[in-house]
Amino acid sequence: CGIVGYVGGKSAQDVVIEGLRRLEYRGYDSAGIALIDGDRVVSDKRAGKLANLEKAIADQPLPAATTGIGHTRWATHGAPNDANAHPHLGQERQVAVVHNGILENFVALRAELEAEGIDMLSETDTEVAAHLLEREVRAGHDLTEAMQRVCRRLEGAFTLVAVDAKDPSRVVAARRNSPLVVGLGEGENFLGSDVAAFIEHTREAMELDQDQVVTITRDGVSVTGFDGSPAEGRRYHVDWDLSAAEKDGHDWFMRKEIFEQPHAVADSLLGRRTPEGLLQLDEMRLSDQDLRDIDKIIIIAAGTSFYAGMVAKYAIEHWCRIPVEVELASEFRYRDPILTTETLVVAISQSGETADTLQAIRHARVQRSKVLAICNTNGSTIPRESDGVIYTHAGPEIGVASTKGFLTQLVACYLLALYLAQVKGTRFGDEIGQVMDQLDEMPGHIETVLGKAEEIYELARAHVGSRSVLFLGRHAGYPVALEGALKLKELAYIHAEGFAAGELKHGPIALIEEGLPVLCVVPPRGRDQLHSKMISGIQEVRARGARTLCLAEEGDDTVARYADVLITLPQVPVLLQPLVAAVPLQLFACELATQLGHDVDQPRNLAKSVTVE
Ligand code: G6P
Repeated sequence: CGIVGYVGGKSAQDVVIEGLRRLEYRGYDSAGIALIDGDRVVSDKRAGKLANLEKAIADQPLPAATTGIGHTRWATHGAPNDANAHPHLGQERQVAVVHNGILENFVALRAELEAEGIDMLSETDTEVAAHLLEREVRAGHDLTEAMQRVCRRLEGAFTLVAVDAKDPSRVVAARRNSPLVVGLGEGENFLGSDVAAFIEHTREAMELDQDQVVTITRDGVSVTGFDGSPAEGRRYHVDWDLSAAEKDGHDWFMRKEIFEQPHAVADSLLGRRTPEGLLQLDEMRLSDQDLRDIDKIIIIAAGTSFYAGMVAKYAIEHWCRIPVEVELASEFRYRDPILTTETLVVAISQSGETADTLQAIRHARVQRSKVLAICNTNGSTIPRESDGVIYTHAGPEIGVASTKGFLTQLVACYLLALYLAQVKGTRFGDEIGQVMDQLDEMPGHIETVLGKAEEIYELARAHVGSRSVLFLGRHAGYPVALEGALKLKELAYIHAEGFAAGELKHGPIALIEEGLPVLCVVPPRGRDQLHSKMISGIQEVRARGARTLCLAEEGDDTVARYADVLITLPQVPVLLQPLVAAVPLQLFACELATQLGHDVDQPRNLAKSVTVE
């Protein structure tokens, strides 16, 4: 969900609504705003998209104000209706609050408030915070102190942002395990779930630590701990601007981001080699000795990032001979994993805020394992809590379904694998250099695949009526098949499943029926055995009536014989093939969903950044 706060000289309504629009991509199902007008809070909130809120405001305008907060909510406690939407107000309507996260002890707090005679108007945990804050303010504390006092009583994960009708000069926020950044302007300051909320106004930002309260006024920002002790935020400059957060003539952010991939991959490869040809990873804060001591790697991630992790396993084990496990972040700590000081945990997260992944790395650090993040978001929590980070340079990814995030994660995984090989000496420098050269050619190859967009769109249009699509792959093509299926589920809401082609005969082949589309990611011919086994798989499904849609490298005449549709890919090594093979699958899902009339950038029920476990 998204949070915005503003105090300054502009129309708070405009700044807040615009900020919420820029955070829409995070996913939400209701939206609301609160402004301070004189000494009262005025507020409106609506289920559904931001447009509903805007329409309500157009019908019944809010007064002009220069202090305000806003929120897009992704329902956790209580259905996504008007009453449960944020902001929530205290009983006297003096304090308004918006919140991300979950207040775990809200049942007890709610009982306490009800015993005091407070009527709850919603089913949310957030409303409890509104009443608690108002109680503190009315007891004579200023909003900053009130926030500190309330936060000391809260359990769980939260970002809270509040205003007090009696003090329009400030907006106060707090965070624990949930995202919040400050935007630093001239005569105005901002709060947002991420910098997109205020990038239109300022590129100067401040990140906060856990368990901090921040107060913004027109002219200043002050930070404290929950105990009131003074603290400092870390200031940083945002190195992308508004244009990166606009669609640029494309119908969807997702489509724009798919087409940005050659650039994103090139940027993520930039500056990784010394003049002597050695790999360097600037933000790798782990020493070579630490890395040499590593005897096991566990990769943790969620969603698309998890599939990047699966590819990383193939690359790391092949190049570095270190055993690698790949685990869903949400499963990791509950199985009591074996972690030692020689274990390297690699957390892959585009947003850097995914709660499952964050909790997993915390668990690993408690066990004293080393943690390395692969992340696309500067200033986010996961890299900050890791021992080292490899930043991908995809720029902001707005489409909920990850595309350039994924490809750049793959690049970071290859870099990590090669770097480990260099440090451990499992591969010779010239071999590493050769792979780096091949990687440098990938942006051009991705461009070639994008040149086939029309062909792929046509294929997508031919499948608008499909009820189910299967995806098959082997080796590094297996995670690509899984990712292709995920994209189709996410965007087109079509049943889709990815399988390792070798598993077909152990069950999935029973699903094959006349006309069922089966998308096959065919490994390069250079890997004989893999290739011929894949061809057998294709023959098997085709013999049972499937329609085979094959992605195979140029010049692969064998596959041509068994493919109902053939889309060719540039010739690249098998380990790097995901960088080109994933692209047609992204285009396929994007176009199919567009044809079906779905909102591609904000698929139903999904959020870009899932900050609750
Ligand atoms: C959400 C998004 C997915 C994403 C996953 C992991 O579920 O909808 O697209 O792959 O989170 O996100 P992360 O930011 O940790 O990579």
